[in-house]
Amino acid sequence: MTEERLVSPEKETTEQLIEKSLRPQFLSQYIGQDKVKHELSIYIAAAKSREESLDHVLLYGPPGLGKTTMAMVIANEMNVNIRTTSGPAIEKPGDLVAILNELEAGDVLFIDEIHRLPRVAEEMLYSAMEDFYVDIMVGQGPTAHPVHFPLPPFTLVGATTRAGMLSAPLRDRFGIISHLEYYQEADLKEIVLRSADIFATDIVATGAHEIARRSRGTPRIANRLLKRVRDFAQVEADGIIDDKIAARALQLLQVDEAGLDYVDQKLIKTMIELYGGGPVGLSTLAVNIGEETETVEDMYEPFLIQKGFLKRTPRGRIATGLAYEHFGYPYE
Ligand code: ADE
Repeated sequence: MTEERLVSPEKETTEQLIEKSLRPQFLSQYIGQDKVKHELSIYIAAAKSREESLDHVLLYGPPGLGKTTMAMVIANEMNVNIRTTSGPAIEKPGDLVAILNELEAGDVLFIDEIHRLPRVAEEMLYSAMEDFYVDIMVGQGPTAHPVHFPLPPFTLVGATTRAGMLSAPLRDRFGIISHLEYYQEADLKEIVLRSADIFATDIVATGAHEIARRSRGTPRIANRLLKRVRDFAQVEADGIIDDKIAARALQLLQVDEAGLDYVDQKLIKTMIELYGGGPVGLSTLAVNIGEETETVEDMYEPFLIQKGFLKRTPRGRIATGLAYEHFGYPYE
């Protein structure tokens, strides 16, 4: 371990600092999601004028659409601190108590993947969210007794890929429920241009458009593709990203014309080649392409459904005529 590491173990690398600066800090810098932004701006302004903590917020939608970013924006707009954890990181009630114990009045507690919170921890959240206290069991056997533990008013911001995966008692305790949607191409283009500016990368409008068009409606993917296209432009051309350079780089990355990546392509081709286009069960498909069922359901399927390549039916998933056409298979 180096000396520097000992002195400042949390020193951030340049890469991490850039990653951080890619995230908008305030609603005015957050591109897209206009409906969610508009609603939140009203509730935030109202809570601030009453000098209250903001009501609990549930953010749901596919991965990569900015749920964590939005939680940070909410904290910045409310002028409070944010504590971040995730459902799987909390293994026992004590883990949650430790985090709750550190909250100050008005703070935001962000729990990512809140649908994966253990049951006991979830039940502890009910009273924490509703009346700002938890009862902790102290001692064992006949001497065990609950200790009442008051909490400051705080805002829980929960994020999940599917609101349906949350139990009703937990979902009902969120006063504000916001659905993040796939981004419009124009918004993604603006995000790509903003990120390119932060990277100090030369890009022309057509280049930003080409990346935006093929980013599956997802800023995280747009930013990732931008980095790879930037590398390509630097090594294979003069460093300037235009549509031709972007298209060549994306071909190398196996991102096709519709923005489908390697896994999307494999999924659809498997359905067509091995299962006659379906219906085929989700878990069967997942096993075939070597991905977790949950990953296919949360990350790949929603986009393929939205694009009209795949349909959910009671008997399983089916590939549509559009999917056959896109991949050049005859459709009967
Ligand atoms: N970077 C990633 N997502 C963004 C967004 N929604 N607005 C601005 N910059 C972003």
